[in-house]
Formats: sequence, structure tokens, C-alpha cells
Amino acid sequence: MYTALYRAQRPEVFSEVLGQDHIVKILRHQIATDTVSHAYLFCGTRGTGKTTTARILAKAVNCTDADVSGRPCGVCDNCLSIKEGTFMDVVEIDAASNNGVDNIRELRESVKYPPAVGRKKVYIIDEVHMLSTGAFNALLKTLEEPPENVIFILATTEPQKLPQTIMSRCMRLDFRRVPASVLMNHMRRICEDRGVTISESALRLISSNADGSVRDGLSLLDQCLSAGDKELDRDTVLEFLGTVSEEFYIELTEKVLLHNPSEALVLLDNAIREGKDAKQLISDWMAHYRNLLMTKYIKNPEDMLNMSTENIDKLRAQSDQISLDEINAGIVTLAKTSSDARYSTQPRILMELAIVILATGLGQGAAVQTAAPQQAFRQAAARPAAASKPAAFADQQPQTSKAPAPAGVQPQASKPSAPAEVPPWEDEPAPAENQAGSDGQEALFADMAEGDYGEPSGQTAAAVEAEMPKPPEKAAKPSSAQYDQQDLDEIWNDIFEAGEGIKGSFNLLRLGTYLAGINEKEFKIIAQNDNKKDYVMKNEKELAQMMEDRVGRKLKLVCVTEKQAGEMTEEEEKIERAAEEVSELLGIKPRIE
Ligand SMILES: Nc1ncnc2c1ncn2[C@@H]1O[C@H](COP(=O)(O)OP(=O)(O)OP(=O)(O)O)[C@@H](O)[C@H]1O
Ligand SMILES: [Mg+2]
Ligand SMILES: [Zn+2]
Repeated sequence: MYTALYRAQRPEVFSEVLGQDHIVKILRHQIATDTVSHAYLFCGTRGTGKTTTARILAKAVNCTDADVSGRPCGVCDNCLSIKEGTFMDVVEIDAASNNGVDNIRELRESVKYPPAVGRKKVYIIDEVHMLSTGAFNALLKTLEEPPENVIFILATTEPQKLPQTIMSRCMRLDFRRVPASVLMNHMRRICEDRGVTISESALRLISSNADGSVRDGLSLLDQCLSAGDKELDRDTVLEFLGTVSEEFYIELTEKVLLHNPSEALVLLDNAIREGKDAKQLISDWMAHYRNLLMTKYIKNPEDMLNMSTENIDKLRAQSDQISLDEINAGIVTLAKTSSDARYSTQPRILMELAIVILATGLGQGAAVQTAAPQQAFRQAAARPAAASKPAAFADQQPQTSKAPAPAGVQPQASKPSAPAEVPPWEDEPAPAENQAGSDGQEALFADMAEGDYGEPSGQTAAAVEAEMPKPPEKAAKPSSAQYDQQDLDEIWNDIFEAGEGIKGSFNLLRLGTYLAGINEKEFKIIAQNDNKKDYVMKNEKELAQMMEDRVGRKLKLVCVTEKQAGEMTEEEEKIERAAEEVSELLGIKPRIE
């Protein structure tokens, strides 16, 4: 059976742990001086080594190597049986699936007995934030009166969800995102061992997409290696990721800044011809705008953006040229586009529209009343219908027949005109504050605040999310009595999180699928393409189980590709809606094929 790369590559001793020197140093010292704590809390982003380090520590306190400072040796009987998971005194508990009081009571019972074979009993409680309140209280008692020879290691990605009482009884160690350069070296070595030549830029791309998570990096590399190629270059990786390089966004943004929609549309056309995914492009482009914002205000954005220095230099050059208004307009427009694109089978049209809006200066009216970048950023997301709405939009005659047709849209009612043509509203300066808007425009921007901020494959998803205000509650749609799309997104997101505990990484799903509906009998997942659909079906059992855990009913998983979904009536309605919006805005009638 094939073992996933990130499992095969799990560090067995401290020296193999990457990027966590601050933690390794403390633990080694405690082991050498026999001052190991009785309770630890390991916090940090997914895939940075929490579980791995917990196991290494468990080995260290039970290792029989004579040299105390060299523990764990990784080769003695105890070390090996801990590695195999057969050591009686090391107990791993997944709090996500054992989160009740009873589970913890059971644990408390077993804690009473002294170690059977080793020196210390070690309890590793993973995803500890998932414990119920009752379970936390039960655990607290044990942590308060720790029996001799027992060590607790609690691990979580979400320490803020833990009660203070638990936190204060543990030694907290924070795992950092692993720098891209460290990841690159690691992956270069793995490739060398497998006789695969990988280019520097390919390595850089994978590691920047890993966003500091070693496991995500290894999963991506694993996917790239899975085709069996002996040579991997940047293009192969890009192809795999269905994304394009940072340069693409720099160039695209530049065209837009130069009010050159036609060249921007050509760039997009090239990318799509190469098989890039329009939805991915939209959300990554939005991430690029966010990067520009960060670079504008933060002196050393390297850590925050987790990007190569050369890309940061390019970003910085562009952020010097772009105004805050333009960034604001970019984020607002693309957030809206990304949200719309999610339910459309024609995301390309929506991206073309976004390009035209941004390149023709329609976003210039967005008023920014504060110099504080983060506040401006929040406003960008929170005030779309009023000041942030591209004000010129309100003045534009939606029915104008001279409006440019985005490439790929075939006008019927009006003569096709080249995208390059200067739109009629271009030289009309927009009033800075304009609340009035026709209904159609209002509708297009009304729910911008609820926009999908995307899951950029780059390094910013988590940070963008963290910056954004929580979308306001949406009224449930009458057609789907129980779940609206926001509920569905939440459920799907919970499932990734739960799934990562089981499968390690569900990155592929995160990037390329969404939950489209739940009815009495089944839940329906839409996958970007056949590959992603296969991946879903490969994990059918786990996904169905997690869905059952999440919604409390047994449901059958149904997965279709976007293409297949596009053939369904419900989807047809959505396309029509998108087409209507385009036609209203540009005064053309797109023909949907
Ligand atoms: N610091 C690291 N050094 C080397 N490899 C690592 C490191 N962190 C993670 N890995 C790789 O990722 C895999 C998963 O790591 P691990 O289970 O320790 O992550 P985690 O922090 O517990 O993640 P999660 O929060 O999702 O539980 C390991 O098997 C290893 O291949
Ligand atoms: Mg873990
Ligand atoms: Zn040992």
C-alpha cells in the first residue's frame, strides 16, 4: 500500500524536526536535566509538527539509551514500539471523536495505574479544543493532581478555544509556520533521494503554497510526484495547482492600473487557454491585492506573506504605484466576483467583468476615510453598498450599447465591440460619494460584504480570513428550507477540519470542491474537475461518516463535476442569472453555450 509522503517522512528524533528549534531546545534541555513538565500544550498551525513532537517527547521519556541528552535514540525497543504505536504506556486520544465526559473519566481511571513497561505514561490528546465543557472539567481535575509518572501533551490548532483553567496548568509551546526556505531544502532532499530533479522555482512555488505547513507542502509535492515524472519544473507544479505564478497577478494588476482592459483580458485569455481555473484565478488575484495592501504598510512583510524575497520586492514595487483606493476597489470587486463565481458555471465571464470594472476606473470612487490599513481593509469589505461601491457605477447607463464586451461573451443584441475600446463612462469623473444606484447595480453589490473571501492557494487565506469581519447572517433561501449556502459552506469547512485529523490534508478538496446541497437522503458535492471528483470518491466513506457526525443523519454522498452540474436545470438558472447581470451592466446580451 502506498504511504503518503508526509507519513513516510515523519521525524523520529528531535534533530529531524524542522523549523521548531525554539521548542526542541527547551524539550531537550528538560530531558537532559530530568525536569520534564507534567502537562504541555502544543499550539500552532496545522502540519507544523505538534503530534510529531509529542511522539518524540513520549519516546524521549521512555527511551532506554544510556546517553540521557541523546534521547530519544529512535532505535531502542521502546522507541521503536512507540513509533509503531504498540507501546502500552503511550496513549493517543483524538479529542475530536472522543470529546465526552465519559471518555475523559475513562482516561482518569487509567491514569491511576503506574506505567506498565516504560518510565512514564504519556497521554497525547490531539485536537483538545474539541472537548466538551464537561470533559474539560473532568480533565482539569487530573491536571490539577497529576499522578506520578504521567505526562499530558495537549495539542491544538485553536488554543483560543481552550478554557483559561486548562491553559494555566500547562507549559505552552507555540509551533511556528516553517519558513519556505527550510521547506525547500527539505523537499529538495526528498526529491534527490527519489532520483527526481526538481527546479528551484518549482520548489519555491510548492513551499510558498504550503503556507508554512510542512504537511501541506509534502502533500503538494506528493501530488506532483504521483505522475512518476523524473523531472519537475515550475510549469508542472503550476499545472498541478491549477494556478499561475505571482508574476501573472503583478502583470494583470499592472494592466488594470494602466487602464488597459484589453491587454488584461488577453492575459486572462492566455491563462485560461492554458487550462487555469477561473475561480482560482479570481481568489488568488484578490489575495494579490491583499498582499499589496500588506506590503504598503508593513516594513518587513516577509514573515506575514510567507513569500520569496524576490516576489516581495516585486510586490513592493507595485504597491508603491498603487493607491489605497485602487486596492480597496480591487478587493471589494474581487470579493464579490469570487462569491458570485462560486455558484456560476461561467466564472470566466465574471472575472472578465471584474477586469473591465477595475481597468476602466470604475472602482476609483471607493472612498477610504482612514489611513490605518487594516481598518481600510475592513471597510473595503464592510461598506460595499455605500462608499466602497465603485461610485461611477451608479452613474453609468447600464443599457449603453457601446459598452465593451468581455472576451468570451458573444453579444447578440448589440454589435460586438473590441474589449480595447474605451468605455463611454471612462472620462466621466465619478462623484466620491454616491449612494444612489439602480436596482440591478444594487443587487450586484448588495451582498458584497458577505462575499467569499476565497481560499487562495497562496499564503494568505488564513490571514485574509482573520482580517475579515464575520459575514452577517443571511436569511435562509426558501428553496432550500434547511440550509442556505452559508450553512453549507460552514458544514463543508467543519468537515475539512475534522478530515485533516484523519487524512492529514484535505487541501485538494478545500481548493476544488464545495458543498452544494443537503436533502433528506443525500448531500451533493460539486468538484472542479474529474481529478477532484475522483479524490472525493476515494474518500467517500470518510466524508460520509464525517457528514453524519456533523449533521446527525446518515446521508449518501453524491459528487458531480462542475461540467456535469452545468447540465442540470438548477445550475442553468444560475448561469442565466449571471448572464442577466452581465447584460444589465454592459448592455449586451451574452449567449451562454
Ligand atoms: N516541523 C516539522 N518537521 C518535519 N516534518 C514535519 C514538521 N511538521 C510536520 N511535518 C510533516 O507533516 C506530517 C504531519 O505533522 P504533524 O502530525 O506533527 O502535524 P501537526 O502539527 O500535529 O498537525 P495537525 O494540527 O493537523 O494535527 C509529519 O508526518 C511530517 O511529515
Ligand atoms: Mg496533529
Ligand atoms: Zn530509544
